[in-house]
Amino acid sequence: MIADPAAMSAWSEAARGRGERIALVPTMGALHAGHLSLLAEGRRRAQRLVLSIFVNPMQFGPQEDLAKYPRDLAGDLVQAASVGCDLAFVPEAAGVYGPGFQTAIEVREVSQGLCGARRPGHFVGVATVVCKFFNIVQPHVALFGEKDFQQLAVIRRMVTDLNLPVEIVGLPTVREPDGLALSSRNAYLSVADRQRARALFAGLSAAKALADKGEGRASVLLDAATAEIAARVDRIDYLEVRAADDLKPLDRIDRPAVMLVAAFVGGTRLIDNLRL
Ligand code: PAF
Repeated sequence: MIADPAAMSAWSEAARGRGERIALVPTMGALHAGHLSLLAEGRRRAQRLVLSIFVNPMQFGPQEDLAKYPRDLAGDLVQAASVGCDLAFVPEAAGVYGPGFQTAIEVREVSQGLCGARRPGHFVGVATVVCKFFNIVQPHVALFGEKDFQQLAVIRRMVTDLNLPVEIVGLPTVREPDGLALSSRNAYLSVADRQRARALFAGLSAAKALADKGEGRASVLLDAATAEIAARVDRIDYLEVRAADDLKPLDRIDRPAVMLVAAFVGGTRLIDNLRL
């Protein structure tokens, strides 16, 4: 494990000097099978596999769950080793955001709406820390889950716009047998709320079933999803149909599309999405 960003960079420079490819899986820890699938794919794509664990204060709003975000460093390191991870980069906040830190990266359009609207500043925090980690770790390839669909779109846009020399790989959401998307925040759910949380995937699946039969009107697909979700969650934060590449809102499914949802279940905010 390395905490010091300068030591991390030196490790990567040595690996690159030996001609080794480096894969990076950036996480906030509390690893689950979704993270392990990213690590396993990273293992296949590079000689060196780095996991970063950093609960990034810059991407949490003042009323959000930074203080109580699940943390399990010892367990994470065991899981990472089990899939052949070479190194965990686990910096302190003071090491990432040094004295006088004042730079931020804003990916303007893709960050609009959805989580960007409900969590002001969230994607500035994500883009900034991911860019910093790319500079520190210097990976050839970095892997992210499609569960955070808007985050992945933001990172892809940033890498293109800033000519960052890293390949971005997005991998499908890993789900529980009943469809619930794996998330570190699922740990917040009570047994009863865990049952209700199935509604998100049930709603998305109902919409997809209609789309598969040829229904192209976003409003009809949203009604089908709402009928499944609204009765079982405490509040739908958003439910929208967007273009899968640039996340522009869609009224009709006339190009590759994705339905995205965020909903509160017993005080826990869950997100999910499904391509239509
Ligand atoms: O998806 C996450 O866990 C975080 O947003 C990330 C990409 C590690 C940046 O802090």
